[in-house]
Amino acid sequence: MDIPFAESYKIKMVESIRKSTREERENWIKDARYNLFNLKSEQVYIDLLTDSGTGAMSDQQWAAMMTGDESYAGARSYYNMKKALKDILGFDHFLPTHQGRAAENVLFSVLVKSGDIVPGNSHFDTTKGHIEFRSAHAIDCTIDEAFDPENEHPFKGNIDLTKLEDVLKDTPREKIPFIVVTLTNNTAGGQPVSMANIKGVAEMADKYGVKLLFDSARFAENAYFIKTREQGYADKSIKEIVLEMYQYAHYATMSSKKDAIVNMGGFVCFRDEEVFKKASTYNIMFEGFITYGGMSGRDMNALAVGLDEGTEFEYLETRIRQVAYLGQKLDEYNVPYQRPAGGHAIFIDARKVLPNVPKEEYIAQTLGIELYLEAGIRGVEIGTLLADRDPDTRENRYPKMELLRLAIPRRVYTNNHIDVIAAAAKNVYDRRHTIAKGYKIKNEAPIMRHFTVELEKA
Ligand code: F0G
Repeated sequence: MDIPFAESYKIKMVESIRKSTREERENWIKDARYNLFNLKSEQVYIDLLTDSGTGAMSDQQWAAMMTGDESYAGARSYYNMKKALKDILGFDHFLPTHQGRAAENVLFSVLVKSGDIVPGNSHFDTTKGHIEFRSAHAIDCTIDEAFDPENEHPFKGNIDLTKLEDVLKDTPREKIPFIVVTLTNNTAGGQPVSMANIKGVAEMADKYGVKLLFDSARFAENAYFIKTREQGYADKSIKEIVLEMYQYAHYATMSSKKDAIVNMGGFVCFRDEEVFKKASTYNIMFEGFITYGGMSGRDMNALAVGLDEGTEFEYLETRIRQVAYLGQKLDEYNVPYQRPAGGHAIFIDARKVLPNVPKEEYIAQTLGIELYLEAGIRGVEIGTLLADRDPDTRENRYPKMELLRLAIPRRVYTNNHIDVIAAAAKNVYDRRHTIAKGYKIKNEAPIMRHFTVELEKA
Protein backbone atom coordinates (compact mmCIF):
# COMPACT_ATOMS: atom_id res chain seq x y z
CA MET A 1 0.00 0.00 0.00
CA ASP A 2 1.00 3.66 -0.31
CA ILE A 3 2.91 4.97 2.68
CA PRO A 4 0.71 7.67 4.29
CA PHE A 5 1.85 11.21 5.07
CA ALA A 6 3.20 11.97 8.55
CA GLU A 7 4.73 14.91 10.40
CA SER A 8 8.29 15.99 9.55
CA TYR A 9 9.30 16.07 13.24
CA LYS A 10 9.08 14.05 16.42
CA ILE A 11 8.20 15.30 19.91
CA LYS A 12 10.82 15.93 22.61
CA MET A 13 8.87 17.85 25.25
CA VAL A 14 5.20 17.86 26.19
CA GLU A 15 2.83 20.02 28.23
CA SER A 16 -0.24 18.54 29.96
CA ILE A 17 -3.69 19.79 29.10
CA ARG A 18 -6.86 18.94 30.96
CA LYS A 19 -10.37 18.12 29.89
CA SER A 20 -13.23 19.63 31.87
CA THR A 21 -16.94 18.88 32.30
CA ARG A 22 -19.70 20.76 30.56
CA GLU A 23 -20.92 21.97 33.94
CA GLU A 24 -17.51 23.45 34.79
CA ARG A 25 -17.37 25.17 31.41
CA GLU A 26 -20.86 26.62 31.84
CA ASN A 27 -19.73 28.27 35.07
CA TRP A 28 -16.39 29.45 33.69
CA ILE A 29 -17.80 31.03 30.55
CA LYS A 30 -20.50 32.79 32.58
CA ASP A 31 -17.80 34.12 34.94
CA ALA A 32 -15.86 35.21 31.84
CA ARG A 33 -18.95 37.23 30.82
CA TYR A 34 -19.21 35.11 27.68
CA ASN A 35 -15.95 36.55 26.35
CA LEU A 36 -13.48 33.80 25.38
CA PHE A 37 -10.54 36.20 25.94
CA ASN A 38 -11.46 36.27 29.65
CA LEU A 39 -11.02 32.51 30.16
CA LYS A 40 -7.96 31.24 31.97
CA SER A 41 -5.91 29.01 29.70
CA GLU A 42 -6.38 26.14 32.21
CA GLN A 43 -10.10 26.32 31.49
CA VAL A 44 -9.42 25.54 27.82
CA TYR A 45 -8.73 22.04 26.48
CA ILE A 46 -7.71 22.87 22.90
CA ASP A 47 -6.73 26.50 22.40
CA LEU A 48 -7.34 27.84 18.89
CA LEU A 49 -7.67 31.50 19.89
CA THR A 50 -4.61 32.33 17.79
CA ASP A 51 -1.58 30.90 16.02
CA SER A 52 0.40 33.95 17.16
CA GLY A 53 3.25 33.24 19.56
CA THR A 54 1.66 29.90 20.46
CA GLY A 55 3.88 27.62 18.36
CA ALA A 56 6.39 25.05 19.62
CA MET A 57 10.03 26.00 19.07
CA SER A 58 12.41 23.36 17.77
CA ASP A 59 15.49 21.91 19.51
CA GLN A 60 17.60 24.10 17.19
CA GLN A 61 15.72 27.22 18.27
CA TRP A 62 16.13 26.35 21.96
CA ALA A 63 19.82 25.69 21.36
CA ALA A 64 20.12 29.11 19.73
CA MET A 65 18.43 30.65 22.80
CA MET A 66 21.31 29.41 24.93
CA THR A 67 23.88 31.24 22.81
CA GLY A 68 21.97 34.53 22.70
CA ASP A 69 24.18 37.58 23.11
CA GLU A 70 22.53 40.03 25.52
CA SER A 71 24.84 42.98 24.79
CA TYR A 72 22.94 46.25 24.63
CA ALA A 73 24.54 47.33 21.35
CA GLY A 74 25.92 45.34 18.44
CA ALA A 75 25.02 41.90 19.82
CA ARG A 76 25.95 38.79 17.81
CA SER A 77 22.26 37.86 17.92
CA TYR A 78 21.40 41.08 16.08
CA TYR A 79 23.85 40.14 13.32
CA ASN A 80 22.38 36.62 13.17
CA MET A 81 18.96 38.15 12.63
CA LYS A 82 20.37 40.61 10.07
CA LYS A 83 21.91 37.77 8.09
CA ALA A 84 18.66 35.76 8.14
CA LEU A 85 16.68 38.75 6.85
CA LYS A 86 19.22 39.37 4.10
CA ASP A 87 19.39 35.70 3.07
CA ILE A 88 15.66 34.94 3.28
CA LEU A 89 13.90 38.22 2.45
CA GLY A 90 16.73 40.03 0.67
CA PHE A 91 16.68 43.26 2.75
CA ASP A 92 19.80 45.18 3.82
CA HIS A 93 18.17 47.42 6.43
CA PHE A 94 15.97 46.35 9.33
CA LEU A 95 14.89 47.23 12.87
CA PRO A 96 13.92 44.61 15.46
CA THR A 97 10.65 45.30 17.35
CA HIS A 98 8.85 43.41 20.10
CA GLN A 99 6.01 42.26 17.80
CA GLY A 100 4.16 43.03 14.58
CA ARG A 101 2.07 45.98 15.71
CA ALA A 102 5.21 47.64 17.09
CA ALA A 103 6.81 47.32 13.65
CA GLU A 104 3.72 49.03 12.22
CA ASN A 105 3.94 51.78 14.82
CA VAL A 106 7.60 52.50 14.03
CA LEU A 107 7.20 52.50 10.23
CA PHE A 108 3.89 54.35 10.17
CA SER A 109 5.30 57.05 12.47
CA VAL A 110 7.58 58.00 9.58
CA LEU A 111 5.26 57.44 6.63
CA VAL A 112 1.56 57.86 7.52
CA LYS A 113 0.04 61.36 7.92
CA SER A 114 -3.43 62.63 8.69
CA GLY A 115 -5.71 62.37 5.64
CA ASP A 116 -3.59 59.72 3.91
CA ILE A 117 -5.14 56.80 2.03
CA VAL A 118 -3.73 53.27 2.44
CA PRO A 119 -5.16 50.72 0.01
CA GLY A 120 -4.58 47.01 0.67
CA ASN A 121 -6.10 43.54 1.07
CA SER A 122 -8.09 43.34 4.32
CA HIS A 123 -5.63 45.21 6.56
CA PHE A 124 -5.20 43.36 9.86
CA ASP A 125 -6.93 45.05 12.87
CA THR A 126 -3.73 46.52 14.31
CA THR A 127 -2.59 47.70 10.87
CA LYS A 128 -5.92 49.42 10.37
CA GLY A 129 -5.76 50.68 13.95
CA HIS A 130 -2.36 52.31 13.38
CA ILE A 131 -3.63 53.87 10.15
CA GLU A 132 -6.87 55.21 11.67
CA PHE A 133 -5.09 56.36 14.85
CA ARG A 134 -3.16 58.74 12.55
CA SER A 135 -6.45 59.95 11.01
CA ALA A 136 -5.65 58.20 7.75
CA HIS A 137 -7.95 55.74 5.92
CA ALA A 138 -7.50 52.06 5.07
CA ILE A 139 -9.29 50.99 1.87
CA ASP A 140 -9.93 47.28 1.38
CA CYS A 141 -9.36 46.25 -2.25
CA THR A 142 -9.61 42.47 -1.74
CA ILE A 143 -11.24 40.57 -4.64
CA ASP A 144 -15.00 39.96 -4.30
CA GLU A 145 -14.54 36.17 -4.47
CA ALA A 146 -13.03 36.34 -0.96
CA PHE A 147 -16.42 37.22 0.50
CA ASP A 148 -18.20 34.14 -0.86
CA PRO A 149 -17.30 31.27 1.52
CA GLU A 150 -18.19 28.62 -1.05
CA ASN A 151 -16.03 29.99 -3.84
CA GLU A 152 -12.93 27.77 -4.25
CA HIS A 153 -10.71 30.51 -5.80
CA PRO A 154 -7.10 29.40 -5.09
CA PHE A 155 -5.88 32.95 -4.25
CA LYS A 156 -8.70 34.58 -2.33
CA GLY A 157 -6.21 36.93 -0.67
CA ASN A 158 -5.61 38.74 -3.97
CA ILE A 159 -6.02 42.47 -4.51
CA ASP A 160 -8.58 43.51 -7.14
CA LEU A 161 -6.46 45.57 -9.54
CA THR A 162 -9.48 47.55 -10.77
CA LYS A 163 -10.46 48.53 -7.22
CA LEU A 164 -6.82 49.43 -6.55
CA GLU A 165 -6.48 51.52 -9.68
CA ASP A 166 -9.68 53.41 -8.84
CA VAL A 167 -8.07 54.45 -5.54
CA LEU A 168 -4.71 55.30 -7.13
CA LYS A 169 -6.33 57.30 -9.95
CA ASP A 170 -8.43 59.42 -7.62
CA THR A 171 -5.83 60.14 -4.93
CA PRO A 172 -2.81 62.45 -5.18
CA ARG A 173 0.39 60.40 -4.99
CA GLU A 174 1.70 62.16 -1.90
CA LYS A 175 -1.42 61.04 0.01
CA ILE A 176 -0.60 57.34 -0.48
CA PRO A 177 2.33 56.36 1.74
CA PHE A 178 2.20 52.74 0.48
CA ILE A 179 -0.08 49.89 -0.55
CA VAL A 180 -0.29 47.06 2.03
CA VAL A 181 -0.15 43.48 0.75
CA THR A 182 -1.07 41.15 3.63
CA LEU A 183 0.55 37.73 3.13
CA THR A 184 -1.50 35.62 3.73
CA ASN A 185 -4.72 37.58 3.98
CA ASN A 186 -5.65 36.68 7.57
CA THR A 187 -9.05 38.35 7.80
CA ALA A 188 -10.28 36.79 4.52
CA GLY A 189 -9.52 33.34 5.94
CA GLY A 190 -5.73 32.88 5.82
CA GLN A 191 -6.03 33.05 2.04
CA PRO A 192 -2.93 33.52 -0.14
CA VAL A 193 -1.96 36.15 -2.69
CA SER A 194 -0.60 34.79 -5.99
CA MET A 195 2.76 35.79 -7.44
CA ALA A 196 0.92 37.07 -10.52
CA ASN A 197 -1.16 39.33 -8.29
CA ILE A 198 1.89 40.57 -6.35
CA LYS A 199 3.47 41.38 -9.70
CA GLY A 200 0.33 43.09 -10.97
CA VAL A 201 0.11 45.23 -7.83
CA ALA A 202 3.82 46.09 -8.12
CA GLU A 203 3.43 47.17 -11.73
CA MET A 204 0.49 49.35 -10.86
CA ALA A 205 2.32 50.82 -7.86
CA ASP A 206 5.22 51.60 -10.15
CA LYS A 207 2.96 53.23 -12.73
CA TYR A 208 1.53 55.57 -10.06
CA GLY A 209 4.82 56.06 -8.22
CA VAL A 210 3.60 54.43 -4.99
CA LYS A 211 5.55 52.12 -2.64
CA LEU A 212 4.63 48.58 -1.50
CA LEU A 213 4.57 47.30 2.08
CA PHE A 214 4.30 43.55 2.72
CA ASP A 215 2.62 42.62 6.01
CA SER A 216 4.64 39.45 6.35
CA ALA A 217 3.10 37.60 9.32
CA ARG A 218 2.41 34.46 7.26
CA PHE A 219 4.59 35.03 4.19
CA ALA A 220 6.01 31.47 4.20
CA GLU A 221 2.54 29.91 4.18
CA ASN A 222 1.78 32.22 1.26
CA ALA A 223 4.86 30.94 -0.59
CA TYR A 224 3.74 27.34 0.04
CA PHE A 225 0.42 28.08 -1.69
CA ILE A 226 2.25 29.69 -4.63
CA LYS A 227 4.39 26.57 -4.96
CA THR A 228 1.48 24.15 -4.75
CA ARG A 229 -1.22 26.13 -6.60
CA GLU A 230 0.37 28.52 -9.11
CA GLN A 231 1.60 27.41 -12.48
CA GLY A 232 5.38 27.55 -12.92
CA TYR A 233 6.33 27.30 -9.22
CA ALA A 234 6.11 23.56 -8.47
CA ASP A 235 9.85 23.05 -8.98
CA LYS A 236 11.01 26.16 -7.11
CA SER A 237 12.02 25.97 -3.46
CA ILE A 238 10.07 27.97 -0.87
CA LYS A 239 13.16 30.13 -0.31
CA GLU A 240 13.41 30.92 -4.04
CA ILE A 241 9.72 31.85 -4.12
CA VAL A 242 10.09 34.05 -1.04
CA LEU A 243 13.00 35.96 -2.58
CA GLU A 244 11.01 36.43 -5.77
CA MET A 245 8.02 37.76 -3.77
CA TYR A 246 10.09 40.22 -1.77
CA GLN A 247 11.92 41.78 -4.71
CA TYR A 248 8.68 43.73 -5.23
CA ALA A 249 8.50 45.08 -1.64
CA HIS A 250 9.88 48.46 -0.52
CA TYR A 251 9.05 47.79 3.12
CA ALA A 252 8.11 44.74 5.17
CA THR A 253 6.66 44.52 8.66
CA MET A 254 6.49 41.18 10.39
CA SER A 255 4.87 39.66 13.41
CA SER A 256 7.48 36.92 13.86
CA LYS A 257 5.11 35.13 16.26
CA LYS A 258 3.62 33.43 13.21
CA ASP A 259 5.89 32.15 10.43
CA ALA A 260 9.17 32.65 12.32
CA ILE A 261 7.73 30.33 15.02
CA VAL A 262 8.83 32.38 18.04
CA ASN A 263 6.76 33.31 21.08
CA MET A 264 7.54 37.02 20.81
CA GLY A 265 9.25 39.22 18.22
CA GLY A 266 8.94 41.29 15.08
CA PHE A 267 10.76 43.59 12.70
CA VAL A 268 10.54 46.22 9.95
CA CYS A 269 12.63 45.95 6.76
CA PHE A 270 13.52 48.83 4.44
CA ARG A 271 15.07 49.23 1.00
CA ASP A 272 15.44 52.95 1.51
CA GLU A 273 18.23 53.93 3.90
CA GLU A 274 16.75 57.35 4.51
CA VAL A 275 13.42 55.97 5.79
CA PHE A 276 15.37 53.41 7.84
CA LYS A 277 17.31 56.25 9.51
CA LYS A 278 14.16 58.21 10.30
CA ALA A 279 12.45 55.09 11.65
CA SER A 280 15.51 54.36 13.83
CA THR A 281 14.67 57.39 15.98
CA TYR A 282 11.13 56.10 16.57
CA ASN A 283 12.50 52.62 17.28
CA ILE A 284 14.78 54.02 19.97
CA MET A 285 11.87 55.97 21.43
CA PHE A 286 9.21 53.22 21.36
CA GLU A 287 11.08 49.91 21.30
CA GLY A 288 14.75 50.05 22.25
CA PHE A 289 18.15 50.65 20.71
CA ILE A 290 18.33 49.82 17.00
CA THR A 291 20.26 46.57 17.53
CA TYR A 292 17.67 44.99 19.84
CA GLY A 293 14.43 47.02 19.61
CA GLY A 294 12.35 45.25 22.27
CA MET A 295 13.88 41.80 21.81
CA SER A 296 16.32 39.85 23.96
CA GLY A 297 19.42 38.53 22.22
CA ARG A 298 18.19 34.98 22.75
CA ASP A 299 14.89 35.81 21.07
CA MET A 300 16.66 37.33 18.06
CA ASN A 301 18.67 34.12 17.77
CA ALA A 302 15.54 31.94 17.92
CA LEU A 303 13.90 34.17 15.33
CA ALA A 304 16.82 33.80 12.91
CA VAL A 305 16.65 30.00 13.18
CA GLY A 306 12.83 30.05 13.03
CA LEU A 307 12.81 32.03 9.79
CA ASP A 308 15.04 29.42 8.23
CA GLU A 309 12.95 26.47 9.50
CA GLY A 310 9.69 28.25 8.68
CA THR A 311 10.68 28.51 5.01
CA GLU A 312 11.45 24.79 4.63
CA PHE A 313 8.96 22.87 2.49
CA GLU A 314 8.70 19.84 4.80
CA TYR A 315 7.74 21.99 7.77
CA LEU A 316 5.17 23.95 5.75
CA GLU A 317 3.72 20.82 4.21
CA THR A 318 3.18 19.31 7.67
CA ARG A 319 1.58 22.50 8.92
CA ILE A 320 -0.73 23.26 6.04
CA ARG A 321 -1.79 19.65 5.60
CA GLN A 322 -2.92 19.65 9.22
CA VAL A 323 -5.13 22.69 8.63
CA ALA A 324 -6.42 21.03 5.43
CA TYR A 325 -7.12 17.85 7.45
CA LEU A 326 -9.45 19.81 9.70
CA GLY A 327 -11.16 21.09 6.54
CA GLN A 328 -11.57 17.51 5.24
CA LYS A 329 -13.12 16.35 8.52
CA LEU A 330 -15.56 19.27 8.44
CA ASP A 331 -16.40 18.36 4.83
CA GLU A 332 -17.21 14.85 5.99
CA TYR A 333 -19.63 16.32 8.55
CA ASN A 334 -20.99 18.99 6.17
CA VAL A 335 -19.92 21.83 8.47
CA PRO A 336 -19.56 24.93 6.24
CA TYR A 337 -16.38 27.08 6.33
CA GLN A 338 -14.53 29.65 4.21
CA ARG A 339 -13.22 27.55 1.32
CA PRO A 340 -10.58 26.48 0.47
CA ALA A 341 -8.96 25.76 3.87
CA GLY A 342 -6.60 28.58 4.87
CA GLY A 343 -2.93 28.46 5.77
CA HIS A 344 -3.16 29.00 9.52
CA ALA A 345 -6.81 28.46 10.34
CA ILE A 346 -10.25 27.26 9.39
CA PHE A 347 -12.91 29.96 9.45
CA ILE A 348 -16.33 28.38 10.13
CA ASP A 349 -19.25 30.08 8.39
CA ALA A 350 -21.29 30.92 11.49
CA ARG A 351 -24.35 32.21 9.61
CA LYS A 352 -24.83 28.79 8.04
CA VAL A 353 -24.07 26.87 11.22
CA LEU A 354 -26.47 28.92 13.36
CA PRO A 355 -29.19 30.05 10.95
CA ASN A 356 -31.66 30.89 13.72
CA VAL A 357 -29.54 33.33 15.72
CA PRO A 358 -30.32 36.94 14.70
CA LYS A 359 -27.37 39.05 13.56
CA GLU A 360 -28.05 41.52 16.42
CA GLU A 361 -27.17 38.70 18.85
CA TYR A 362 -23.62 38.07 17.57
CA ILE A 363 -23.80 34.86 15.56
CA ALA A 364 -20.08 34.00 15.38
CA GLN A 365 -19.58 34.77 19.07
CA THR A 366 -22.53 32.51 19.89
CA LEU A 367 -20.93 29.73 17.87
CA GLY A 368 -17.61 30.30 19.68
CA ILE A 369 -19.37 29.89 23.03
CA GLU A 370 -21.23 26.76 21.86
CA LEU A 371 -17.99 25.14 20.69
CA TYR A 372 -16.37 25.95 24.02
CA LEU A 373 -19.31 24.46 25.93
CA GLU A 374 -19.26 21.38 23.70
CA ALA A 375 -15.62 20.36 24.20
CA GLY A 376 -13.52 23.13 25.79
CA ILE A 377 -12.28 24.43 22.43
CA ARG A 378 -11.51 28.14 22.20
CA GLY A 379 -11.75 29.89 18.82
CA VAL A 380 -12.10 33.59 18.08
CA GLU A 381 -14.95 35.64 16.65
CA ILE A 382 -14.32 37.35 13.31
CA GLY A 383 -17.73 38.96 13.07
CA THR A 384 -19.83 41.82 14.36
CA LEU A 385 -18.06 42.22 17.71
CA LEU A 386 -14.72 42.58 15.91
CA ALA A 387 -16.17 44.85 13.21
CA ASP A 388 -17.16 47.24 16.02
CA ARG A 389 -19.32 50.34 15.72
CA ASP A 390 -19.25 52.97 13.00
CA PRO A 391 -17.15 55.81 14.49
CA ASP A 392 -19.71 58.43 13.34
CA THR A 393 -23.13 56.83 13.86
CA ARG A 394 -22.04 54.47 16.71
CA GLU A 395 -24.25 51.79 15.09
CA ASN A 396 -23.00 48.20 14.89
CA ARG A 397 -21.21 47.48 11.61
CA TYR A 398 -22.38 44.14 10.23
CA PRO A 399 -19.54 42.58 8.23
CA LYS A 400 -19.93 40.65 4.98
CA MET A 401 -19.18 37.36 6.76
CA GLU A 402 -19.71 36.06 10.30
CA LEU A 403 -16.80 33.69 10.93
CA LEU A 404 -15.45 31.68 13.84
CA ARG A 405 -11.69 31.35 13.35
CA LEU A 406 -10.05 28.15 14.56
CA ALA A 407 -6.35 29.05 14.36
CA ILE A 408 -3.98 26.10 14.58
CA PRO A 409 -0.79 26.73 16.59
CA ARG A 410 2.39 25.52 14.84
CA ARG A 411 3.73 22.07 15.81
CA VAL A 412 1.49 21.94 18.92
CA TYR A 413 -1.50 19.65 18.44
CA THR A 414 -1.80 16.21 16.84
CA ASN A 415 -4.42 15.08 14.36
CA ASN A 416 -6.19 13.38 17.29
CA HIS A 417 -6.85 16.88 18.60
CA ILE A 418 -8.06 17.87 15.14
CA ASP A 419 -10.52 14.94 15.28
CA VAL A 420 -11.87 16.26 18.59
CA ILE A 421 -12.29 19.76 17.13
CA ALA A 422 -14.14 18.45 14.08
CA ALA A 423 -16.42 16.20 16.16
CA ALA A 424 -17.29 19.09 18.48
CA ALA A 425 -18.10 21.31 15.49
CA LYS A 426 -20.29 18.53 14.06
CA ASN A 427 -22.21 18.17 17.31
CA VAL A 428 -22.94 21.89 17.45
CA TYR A 429 -23.93 21.85 13.77
CA ASP A 430 -26.23 18.87 14.31
CA ARG A 431 -28.17 20.68 17.03
CA ARG A 432 -28.22 23.99 15.15
CA HIS A 433 -32.03 24.15 15.07
CA THR A 434 -32.16 24.18 18.87
CA ILE A 435 -29.94 27.27 19.12
CA ALA A 436 -32.04 30.36 18.46
CA LYS A 437 -30.71 32.85 20.97
CA GLY A 438 -27.40 34.65 21.12
CA TYR A 439 -25.98 37.33 23.41
CA LYS A 440 -26.30 41.03 24.09
CA ILE A 441 -23.68 43.51 25.20
CA LYS A 442 -23.55 44.56 28.87
CA ASN A 443 -20.34 46.59 28.64
CA GLU A 444 -17.96 47.55 25.84
CA ALA A 445 -14.86 49.70 25.27
CA PRO A 446 -15.03 52.62 22.80
CA ILE A 447 -12.60 50.89 20.36
CA MET A 448 -11.27 47.32 19.91
CA ARG A 449 -14.22 46.22 22.02
CA HIS A 450 -13.97 42.49 21.25
CA PHE A 451 -11.01 41.99 23.62
CA THR A 452 -12.83 43.15 26.74
CA VAL A 453 -16.53 43.13 25.90
CA GLU A 454 -18.93 41.79 28.57
CA LEU A 455 -21.96 39.86 27.34
CA GLU A 456 -25.10 38.32 28.76
CA LYS A 457 -27.62 35.90 27.33
CA ALA A 458 -30.13 37.58 24.98
N1 F0G B 1 -0.51 41.51 10.68
C1 F0G B 1 -1.22 40.37 10.62
C2 F0G B 1 -1.64 39.84 9.29
C3 F0G B 1 -1.56 39.69 11.80
O1 F0G B 1 -2.28 38.57 11.72
C4 F0G B 1 -1.14 40.22 13.04
C5 F0G B 1 -1.48 39.54 14.30
C6 F0G B 1 -0.40 41.41 13.06
C7 F0G B 1 -0.10 42.03 11.85
C8 F0G B 1 0.05 42.06 14.34
O2 F0G B 1 1.07 41.34 14.91
O3 F0G B 1 0.16 40.49 17.09
O4 F0G B 1 2.61 40.52 16.61
O5 F0G B 1 1.41 42.63 17.01
N2 F0G B 1 -2.32 38.62 14.37
C9 F0G B 1 -2.68 37.82 15.53
C10 F0G B 1 -3.84 36.92 15.17
C11 F0G B 1 -2.89 38.60 16.79
O6 F0G B 1 -4.39 36.28 16.09
O7 F0G B 1 -4.16 36.79 13.99
P1 F0G B 1 1.31 41.24 16.49
